This record gives sequence, C-alpha cells and structure tokens, in this order.
Amino acid sequence: MKLLHLDSSALGEYSATREIGHAIVQELKKHGPLDVTYRDLHTDPIPHFVKHLDSLSAEAQVDERILQQFEETDVFVLGAPMYNLSIPTTLKAWIDRILIAGRTFRYTENGPQGLVSGKKVIIVSARGSAYGDQFPMDHQESYLKDIFNFLGVQDVFIVRAEGMAFPTRSQSISQTINSIPEMFAIPAQN
Ligand SMILES: Cc1cc2nc3c(=O)[nH]c(=O)nc-3n(C[C@H](O)[C@H](O)[C@H](O)COP(=O)(O)O)c2cc1C
Repeated sequence: MKLLHLDSSALGEYSATREIGHAIVQELKKHGPLDVTYRDLHTDPIPHFVKHLDSLSAEAQVDERILQQFEETDVFVLGAPMYNLSIPTTLKAWIDRILIAGRTFRYTENGPQGLVSGKKVIIVSARGSAYGDQFPMDHQESYLKDIFNFLGVQDVFIVRAEGMAFPTRSQSISQTINSIPEMFAIPAQN
C-alpha cells in the first residue's frame, strides 16, 4: 500500500497539521505495511504551473513525475491548514499538477467525468477559529472535497483541529490526536 503524505503549513514545528498528520501516518502503519513518501510543500515547493509546449522539457518531466506519483498512490494524508478561508498556495500548486484532462478526468458532452478510483484521501484540517461543519465561507475543506470528488474519489475523510488561535490550542490538538486510533479503527471481523 502506497501512502503519500504532504504538508503545506508555513509554521514549521509549530504546525498543528504537521503534528496531527504525522500521528495519523504512525497509526496507519500499525494496520499493515505502508510504503510512505513524504513531501513538505512549504520547504520543498512545487513551482506555480506554467504551460510547456515541449513534453521533454525539465518542467514537463517534473509535472509527469508528480502525476505518476499521484496515480500510483493508494492513500493520501494531506496537511491542509485554512489560509484566508482557503488552502496554502503550496498545496494548490500540487493540485494544479494532478487535475489533468485526459489523465485524471475528462470532459464529456454531459459534463466533466472523474477517471480516478480506489483511492482514499485524509485531509488534516486546522483553523485558527472554530467553524464546525457548516461554515458557508469554507473554501478549504469543502474545496478539497470537491476537487477529489471531481476526480472520482469519494473516500475523503476530514480530521479537523479548530480554535488554533485560542488559548485552548494545545488541548484541541491533543484531543484530535487522542481520537486518531478510534477514527481509524479496523472494523472487527466476524
Ligand atoms: C496566512 C494565514 C492565513 C490564515 N487564515 C485563516 C482563516 O481564514 N481562518 C482561520 O480560522 N484561521 C486562519 N489562519 C490560522 C490557521 O488556520 C491556523 O494557525 C492553523 O493552525 C494553521 O495550521 P498549521 O498549525 O498546521 O500551520 C491563517 C493562518 C495563516 C498563517
């Protein structure tokens, strides 16, 4: 099973999504062998998308490697803090490489159609304030869900820590981390 773990927080060691994402990966490793690839998109960013006419150019080859890595991955753990109601641009730069018409989705007369299946996406969400599930201005979790649903991936699971700007920040992070084993519990076999 191949797992791709991406972080996009700019806050280094102080990041909630980093801490929680790493705890999730540690938990998943208990469930069976995992081939984990990690990339910190903040310290090792993907450049903004540029159109290249030459498929042999260095940029085109980087794009192809990112896309192939996406296609080969079974499980994604994506550290996705809320930045100005949305996601960090470093994570958006990765998304711009994986939504490729003809590869991961296609345009049809009946609208776009996702071409991706059999993948699981775990979104690690952190927010300075506390909004819950129904925040009409959420362009972070709902955007990421839409992106993966658009590609055909329905198995999108959100792990959320809120109130990161409140004095209760560390309790909120600990609470989220403590609930990880239960969230990812393997269903009992009969
Ligand atoms: C550039 C920037 C923009 C932010 N925008 C929002 C926001 O729109 N709403 C919010 O609730 N918190 C916002 N925050 C707070 C972060 O969501 C919060 O600090 C969260 O813990 C970030 O995740 P991290 O700890 O993994 O870095 C913002 C933080 C930064 C650095």
